[in-house]
Amino acid sequence: MFFLTPVLVAVVCILIVWIFKNGDGSSKRRKGEPRARAEVRPWVDEDLKDNTDLHQGEEGANDRQESEEDVEHIPFSHTRYPEKEMVKRSQEFYALLSKRRSVRFISSEQVPMEVIDNVIKTAGTAPSGAHTEPWTFVVVKDPDVKHKIREIIEEEEEINYLKRMGRQWVTDLKKLRTNWVKEYLDTAPVLILIFKQVHGVAASGKRKVHYYNEISVSIACGILLAALQNVGLVTVTTTPLNCGPRLRVLLGRPTNEKLLMLLPVGYASKEATVPNLTRKPVDQIRVIV
Ligand SMILES: Cc1cc2nc3c(=O)[nH]c(=O)nc-3n(C[C@H](O)[C@H](O)[C@H](O)COP(=O)(O)O)c2cc1C
Repeated sequence: MFFLTPVLVAVVCILIVWIFKNGDGSSKRRKGEPRARAEVRPWVDEDLKDNTDLHQGEEGANDRQESEEDVEHIPFSHTRYPEKEMVKRSQEFYALLSKRRSVRFISSEQVPMEVIDNVIKTAGTAPSGAHTEPWTFVVVKDPDVKHKIREIIEEEEEINYLKRMGRQWVTDLKKLRTNWVKEYLDTAPVLILIFKQVHGVAASGKRKVHYYNEISVSIACGILLAALQNVGLVTVTTTPLNCGPRLRVLLGRPTNEKLLMLLPVGYASKEATVPNLTRKPVDQIRVIV
């Protein structure tokens, strides 16, 4: 009876250790297993992969970059408005932009190219990290190229909806009635593909660091959306998941450029509809400290 006690204690100890080691096994990732669903962020991880990248060495990754060290500083010129005028202008600008909607039904009517140039020039006024201006706006008008873009996007989007996005994401999109069929890629007279340059290339061929390139290009895209709204054209912000590398190759863009956004641009088609969405009131999005 007494000699059984140490055996019993040993068995209990082993059991306790085993329970502690395996108790949280469900939350731990075992070797070779895919990441937990909550950790998977396909819109970030997948899209930034670009198998068409050159190896760093081929692009002179170790070269010291060239810098423009001296720029003349000049007096700043701008317009200051009386307060009443400021309030009026802020209200008018808000009224204009509050009517902006993502429109997925775009007519094939041609748009003036001068206007497209002007809205792109406007986007190019955006601030950028160390004034690197890390953006390229590719304007596609050619119907054959637009159709090839549509084929690539629809092929990838079908897989996105069925496999990559997951049930929650697809459910969240239901209210927008979107799917992988993107007719607007053929009908819109102009597609603007906005590429972020993850680094620049100096005249000498050396690599130039593009600080905060994604934030800079995103700001430029925001300004572009506002400029399009200002001229009465419509678009829908699209970020075609997993299509970046193929579209970059199709458009003959260099490897330092990654697709950030695709905007089909044109006039709204007569039968266009939009989801009846509301926007958060200012007291839900602004905090005063
Ligand atoms: C970063 C980003 C990515 C988006 N991607 C898509 C997209 O791939 N396809 C699409 O139809 N809409 C896309 N949208 C549009 C949103 O669905 C739309 O902005 C949202 O439903 C609000 O509607 P509104 O733009 O009419 O205010 C995207 C918007 C943003 C800001």
